[in-house]
Parts: sequence; structure tokens; C-alpha cells
Amino acid sequence: MKVTVVGAGAVGASCAEYIAIKDFASEVVILDIKEGYAEGKAMDLMQTASLMGFDTKISGSTNDYAKTADSHIAVITSGIPRKPGMTREELIGINAGIVKTVSSNLLKHSPNVIIIVVSNPMDTMTYLVHKTTGIPKNRIIGMGGALDSARFKYRLAEAMESPISDIDGMVIGGHSDTGMVPLTSHATRNSIRVSEFLSEDRLQQVADDTKVGGATLTKLLGTSAWYAPGAAVSSMVQAIACDQKKMFPCSTMLDGEYGLKDICIGVPVILGKNGIEKIIDIPLSDAEKAKMKESAEGVSKTNGLLEL
Ligand SMILES: NC(=O)c1ccc[n+]([C@@H]2O[C@H](COP(=O)([O-])OP(=O)(O)OC[C@H]3O[C@@H](n4cnc5c(N)ncnc54)[C@H](O)[C@@H]3O)[C@@H](O)[C@H]2O)c1
Repeated sequence: MKVTVVGAGAVGASCAEYIAIKDFASEVVILDIKEGYAEGKAMDLMQTASLMGFDTKISGSTNDYAKTADSHIAVITSGIPRKPGMTREELIGINAGIVKTVSSNLLKHSPNVIIIVVSNPMDTMTYLVHKTTGIPKNRIIGMGGALDSARFKYRLAEAMESPISDIDGMVIGGHSDTGMVPLTSHATRNSIRVSEFLSEDRLQQVADDTKVGGATLTKLLGTSAWYAPGAAVSSMVQAIACDQKKMFPCSTMLDGEYGLKDICIGVPVILGKNGIEKIIDIPLSDAEKAKMKESAEGVSKTNGLLEL
């Protein structure tokens, strides 16, 4: 199983590291446009192998896509991250050009590759890959909900002073500060609804903190986060590589599900060896439906900025 990670920056390197540590892929190729950067990150990571106990072979490439040939999965993290005070949508100008070029180059050498889009604004970048490559929709997956759900579980555990492993919950909708829809009514602690433990106000606070989870970290770090994004991508790559049929909220092209069409937005899907194997269309409350509609309007507005 060969995995390519495009972008050797913060998220790309973290993603490659977690994939290697989990030791399920035979090969990871990191590619970056910056001369020698991916080669350096790959060598540094390989020098952790004997210490961390993995056999995954990691190599780097400066923009040579021949080295990515016959990849099963490719992760696109190339592009600029936001700085404090910026929205993800403000990155569209530069990142759209990068994502379009990168996906076309990947497909020249790996025509059957499954693409995971991470670069922001992620839902719109996922839509762009659909519109410009024309590959089947099961092979284009946007990563946002897996990270946002991990942040939601972190905030729920914090509010209930519980271990995170007790918590189950999911965030759907657009991957933006205003577009996320944390499903508070479905979240549980050991199958008991979290509303049994937390007041309505506290639950609202958890949802609000989840939605600005990325912005909070960007303010603290001066750039966007990388550990949790890298871990979220590596879990999705593992689900595909190992045909786990695991459920994650992912950005996927909808065709009527959730009452939406011609839009990529976060909904629960099953990930297995074919990429997105099924979209799970769960019933939402009227309030959640309204939030999902508003979120989709925001994503469509950003999609409208693309020059297709
Ligand atoms: N979807 C999510 O949940 C999520 C989470 C975190 C970050 N992000 C996004 O991921 C992207 C990367 O973030 P980061 O913190 O790793 O940024 P970074 O600046 O650390 O790394 C980006 C890398 O991309 C490389 N790059 C630029 N153009 C390229 C090209 N044409 N081909 C190959 N490589 C190229 C750069 O040289 C750089 O090394 C940003 O757009 C960020 O907003 C998304």
C-alpha cells in the first residue's frame, strides 16, 4: 500500500508521521515544491523508525511526481495555512491554483488513486477536484469533519470531566467557523445522551468552542494546527488502506442526500478500500436541518468564487 502526501509542511509531515507510526502502509512518499524540504522531512522521519518501531519506508520528492507513481491514496495538504484573524475562505485564491495543479499531476502517475483533500477552504477545494478531474466521487474525500468531531469530543470530555474514550459525537456541515454543525442532540457518554450531564447553556458553549477550535489554535500558535489534523487524516487513510468500513464525517459530493445537490460538504460516510463506500443519510431535527441548510449556503457562496 503506497501513500503519497503532497505538502511537507506542518500538516503533511504530521500526517506522514502518524501513518508511519501505525505501520499499516508499505511506503509513504512526501512531495513538496520547496527544494529538498520533503527529502529532509522524510529522512528525519526515517531516523525515528528504529526508535518508534515501524517498517514503513518514507521518501521525499521535490515536485517529481514520477516518484508518486501507482499510489493507492494521495493526501493533498499543499497550500497556505491561515494566520490569526483570517478565515479559511480567504485562502481560496492561492490554494485553488495549487490544488488543481497537484491533483492533475497526481492522476497522471496514479490514475486510480483515492484523493483526500485537506487544503483550505477544504469543502470548496474538494468541489474543485471534482469539477476539474472528473474522477468518480467515491475517490474524492475532504477531511474536516474527522478533525472537527475530535475537537467536539475533546470539548465534551472537558465539560463533563470525563475521559475522552467515554465520548461519542460527530460534527457535520461545512468545515468553517460558522458552517460546522456539532450534533449535540446525538452525542453520548457511554450511550447516555450528553444532555443528561450538561445544561443547555453548557452544551451550547461546547458547540461554540468546537466551531472556533481551529481559530483558537491559530491564535495560540500563529499558524493553523497540525497534530490533530495529521492524526485525523491518518485515521482516514488507515480506514481505506485496511478496508475498515469505519464511519467518519467527510466532505463528499452530494446528490440529493440531506436535501442537497452539487455541493461537497461534511456528512457521515463509510470509508473502505474503495474510498467513500456509502453516504449515511441520518434524520436531523428541524434545528439541525436549518443549520445544515445555512452551512450549505455558505459553502456554495465560496464555491461561486472558483474560476471553473
Ligand atoms: N482540512 C482541515 O481540517 C485542515 C486542518 C489544518 C490545516 N489545513 C490546511 O492545510 C494546508 C496546509 O497547512 P500547513 O499548516 O501544513 O501549511 P504549511 O505552510 O506548513 O505547509 C504547506 C506546504 O505546502 C507546500 N506547497 C505549496 N505549494 C505547493 C505545490 N504546488 N506543490 C507541492 N507543495 C506545495 C509548501 O512548500 C509547504 O511546505 C492549509 O491550506 C491549511 O489551511 C486543513
